[in-house]
Amino acid sequence: MTENLAYTDEVAQATADVHAMLANQYDEPYWQTLAPYIYEINRLKKEKNAVILAHNYMTPDIFHGVADIVGDSLALAREAAKTDADMIIQCGVHFMAETSKTLCMDKKVIIPDMKAGCSLAESITAADVKLLREKYPDVPIVTYVNTSAEVKAESDVCCTSGNAVKIVNALDSDTVLMIPDKYLADYTRQHTDKTILTWEGSCEVHERFTPEDIQNFRKRYEGVTVLAHPECPPEVLAEADYTGSTQQMIDYVTGKRPERVVLITECSMSDNIAAANPDMELVRPCQMCPHMKRITLPKILEALQTEGPEITIDPEIAERSLVPIQKMLDMS
Ligand code: 13P
Ligand code: SF4
Repeated sequence: MTENLAYTDEVAQATADVHAMLANQYDEPYWQTLAPYIYEINRLKKEKNAVILAHNYMTPDIFHGVADIVGDSLALAREAAKTDADMIIQCGVHFMAETSKTLCMDKKVIIPDMKAGCSLAESITAADVKLLREKYPDVPIVTYVNTSAEVKAESDVCCTSGNAVKIVNALDSDTVLMIPDKYLADYTRQHTDKTILTWEGSCEVHERFTPEDIQNFRKRYEGVTVLAHPECPPEVLAEADYTGSTQQMIDYVTGKRPERVVLITECSMSDNIAAANPDMELVRPCQMCPHMKRITLPKILEALQTEGPEITIDPEIAERSLVPIQKMLDMS
């Protein structure tokens, strides 16, 4: 189903604005292979009344070329809850598509690659949460959205990296169990008086950063502003100027406009910000999320054409996992 993928004058004209923005990211021959996909995806999504929700870690061709909504996990969940499209194409990882499906059980939710997983989501099962519940019966369970629907179904409330502190502080309990990211729990512990229990999960991408990385950036790039994601280890966050979710980092740089910045997070974030802010110098360390990088333009086009692979959730699990997700949306 790869017809109409030539770089024609019509394609060049229709993609001229994106081309101008991405000229520093892709050389001309490569751009000419991307543009026909961008053109055809944008045509087909209108024809099918589909909306493309893209996480901030998508590559610039997806982020700036075909996405209707971009954002962090919280923003994408909010948008999924209110879309009137017939079909959601989730450009991100599996747990994000499951969250969208839970919020829109009547809609088709499609992920261009079913294998796009997450090391945090893999680190804990529903059976683990049931055991934790038995061990700590009176402690509320705050579950990071980077988990399966089955795990959420056993939880009291969800959180994202953008609202974890707010959610925990709003709970009527002096002790809270935050699963599965031990580093997000560490970060939250520093911003609350509550006792935070946790689980031994971590993000395989953010745990690769070290404090020495940041010290070296500061030495090599004088005056650089360092922003880090709360999935990083605490000794890394201690070296940063600001900690926030992917969207909070974007808001910080677009609001404060530092001249030089380094983002201690997945590498496409910097590429996307650089494309939209050519005057800003982004130091670009690259730690790539292999799961996010499974999502590509050819797979998005195929997903639109075949209307699959579709996310399905057992209705009983969906009903139970909706409760903590909705509670989080109401609290944030
Ligand atoms: P955000 O909610 O900050 O976008 O984080 C999601 C994620 O998977 C980060 O690794
Ligand atoms: Fe999961 Fe880490 Fe990839 Fe985010 S960056 S999807 S937490 S593995």
